[in-house]
Amino acid sequence: MCGIIGYVGDRPACEVIVKGLKRLEYRGYDSAGIVTEDGGKLFIRKGAGKIDELTGKLGFLEMPGRRGIGHTRWATHGVPNDINAHPHTDCTRKIALVHNGIIENFSEIRDYLLERGHSFRSDTDTETIAHLIEEELKSSETFEEAMRKALLRLKGSFALGIIYADEPDRLYFVRNESPLVLGIGKGETFAASDVPAFLEYTNKVVFLDDMEYAVITRDSWVVKKLETGEPVEKEVQEVEWTLEMAEKAGYPHFMLKEIYEQPRAVRDAMHGNVDAVRKAAEEIARYEKVFIVAMGTSYHAGLVGKYLFQRLANRVPIVEDASEFRYEFENVIDEDTLVIAITQSGETADTLAAMKLAKRKGAKVLAIVNVVGSMATRIADLTLYTHAGPEIGVAATKTYTTQLAVLTMLAIELARVLGTADDGYLSSLVDGLSRVPELMEEVLKHDASLRELAEGLAGKSDFFYIGRGVSVPTALEGALKLKEISYIHAEGLSAGELKHGPLALLEEGVPVVAIAPSGKTFEKMLGNIEESRARGAFIIGLGDREELGRVSDVLVQMPPMDELLTPIVYAVPLQLLAYHLAVLRGNDPDKPRNLAKSVTVE
Ligand code: F6R
Repeated sequence: MCGIIGYVGDRPACEVIVKGLKRLEYRGYDSAGIVTEDGGKLFIRKGAGKIDELTGKLGFLEMPGRRGIGHTRWATHGVPNDINAHPHTDCTRKIALVHNGIIENFSEIRDYLLERGHSFRSDTDTETIAHLIEEELKSSETFEEAMRKALLRLKGSFALGIIYADEPDRLYFVRNESPLVLGIGKGETFAASDVPAFLEYTNKVVFLDDMEYAVITRDSWVVKKLETGEPVEKEVQEVEWTLEMAEKAGYPHFMLKEIYEQPRAVRDAMHGNVDAVRKAAEEIARYEKVFIVAMGTSYHAGLVGKYLFQRLANRVPIVEDASEFRYEFENVIDEDTLVIAITQSGETADTLAAMKLAKRKGAKVLAIVNVVGSMATRIADLTLYTHAGPEIGVAATKTYTTQLAVLTMLAIELARVLGTADDGYLSSLVDGLSRVPELMEEVLKHDASLRELAEGLAGKSDFFYIGRGVSVPTALEGALKLKEISYIHAEGLSAGELKHGPLALLEEGVPVVAIAPSGKTFEKMLGNIEESRARGAFIIGLGDREELGRVSDVLVQMPPMDELLTPIVYAVPLQLLAYHLAVLRGNDPDKPRNLAKSVTVE
């Protein structure tokens, strides 16, 4: 996720752009850059760092011109540094562009362009687009035609802002699966990834849809189809948001916004990892001794990974809390060991220490990380990115479900390499996984009823979350979400464990959240739910089977799916329930007490 802002009008473009970038900083903050045009010449300043810092250091506010584009980056390809910061240009430096998204076929395009003599300055997928347009320009009548032809060759998600030095008055903005909105002012036009970037100047907006592009000038705008170049009729809408609401896209908290972003994030995680997962699976297949190390929510993702690996690939990784791994497993790690470290921030002290230990002992280290260029990626031999975009809320939501998407892909690929599962079944799982974002959209519709449910539960002091098999980590994660933001005591456990002790705590009205999808232990789960009901527990069932409704006080109806995909989709209602309980109890879910987003001390 990155932020884009563009401006054409009478004001100094740099001023509008710097303000816009500040308001988009929540979308990414590892590097930033601006291009403006004056007298037919492009001016570019960019670098790694925060916008405030760069504004002083690079003199953003001294850039000339009344037309320009800015970008705040959250790296996906290429570490955050000065060269990889946007804008990127073609060989002639007449085309400059900024990009939010991921180009899946960029290495193929890059090879094609290298053969044609283009030279590249950065490691980014974005730069290939500038060169591709330059290449198409050789056989096109207009810049617009060249741009369209080039963009139709891209696979992946993109929102782009493009400027061409030889056209004095206009800017282009293109959207495919990454957000883009126009702001229509009087004698000035804006475009951005999100409304707050220009809300100070206008509240009249036009939302672009996928595979559409806009050509904007000072006092005109038109939206066209990328496929054909034909104009599309668009409605100008007025937004009623305050600036503060707009930064959170109208959501009251970042956490809720991030919960709602999950279908998109999971889609990006899948699109961004097709090749990388294949390579990683081949590496994992070489090792019999596999550890997964992580903390907190990432540790729960690791536990889901264990079920996926054992069910699909007959490999049973040892999943360890990284803080324990460091001290307990030193003697068993050697060159024949592979350690998978899962960490969204890539900066968690215990996870980094576990990775360093593994490296010291000669083990191979694979990291699953969200923050590009973070410490974990520098320690690891191989990194898979979750492409979730920056997560501002302290409680992990979209970084968790994207970790699960990557682990699911990895387990499927590993099973293929090892030949441990039926091909037909693996293909059906791949199909199922590709439909997960839609299923997440579907379960997000339970938001209002979960809020209602939370109203009746806000006074409770203990919750239990139970599941079996792959739903055990889901239960643990549901309980963790509740604890950390609502401050209600919660326990997650395997349903089979209930009668070995915890059942003694169940009494009239204690909420028990039963994660019970169809699967090999569904009948057993029904038995465990009955045990809890018999003690007066209030059962909240999450599942797709009618029988579950009969034993639950409240049923959260889930769509049917392969049991192995349930951890991703079932996380959503659990996050929503925790969120609503936190808000109803007067807590700020974005900043829970005593907790920090990344734990950089042991
Ligand atoms: C819980 C949460 C934490 C983190 C943990 C590890 O919502 O966010 O439990 O999962 O601190 O963080 P990363 O993944 O950055 O290593």
